[in-house]
Amino acid sequence: MVPRLLTLPDPALVVLVGVVDSGKSTFARRAFASTQVLSTDVFRAMVADDGADLSASRAAFELLHRVAALRLERGRLTVVDATNTWPDARADLVDLARAHGVPPVAVVLDVPPRICAERNRSRPDRRPVPEPALRRQRDRLRRSLSTLTDEGFSAVHVLTDEEAATATVELVPPSERARWGP
Ligand code: GTP
Ligand code: MG
Repeated sequence: MVPRLLTLPDPALVVLVGVVDSGKSTFARRAFASTQVLSTDVFRAMVADDGADLSASRAAFELLHRVAALRLERGRLTVVDATNTWPDARADLVDLARAHGVPPVAVVLDVPPRICAERNRSRPDRRPVPEPALRRQRDRLRRSLSTLTDEGFSAVHVLTDEEAATATVELVPPSERARWGP
């Protein structure tokens, strides 16, 4: 199989969308520099010493948005590594990107539920997420797949599990985008 080529504008606000254990952090680690990736788990740990402490989510998002804004002000490509299955969470990120004149791009990890469930059961670093919560996330993701293009993203890329594991990311600076035309 020829690896998929994922062409992204640089700068951009790259919004990962995927249920728990769909491989968002693994993809982000492989495809981007560590300083480009803002992960809610990391920000939760920063404020609560525990990346899985959901009571710290609000503070974590506040910090994440603040750091993303400071990076976008500098024109730095930024990747938001969070489930982003709620439309409201994505709308805030689209607004943030637009406010800084940077294109928001969605990268969806559309991974079969049985693979995520299997990984969820066998993750060494945290307790499994309860199955009903996983199911609700999955349902939201399904619904999101049909609405994402109307949410204001400049582009929406949907990756399969295999594509997420192998895709090559190509970053296109504004000077080259100008040559493509509007
Ligand atoms: P949350 O942050 O909990 O929402 O999960 P995530 O979407 O960031 O998933 P993560 O990248 O942490 O991957 C979850 C588990 O699946 C980890 O144990 C990974 O090692 C494993 N994993 C991720 N991608 C792949 C893959 O392509 N193949 C296989 N076999 N395992 C993977
Ligand atoms: Mg993760």
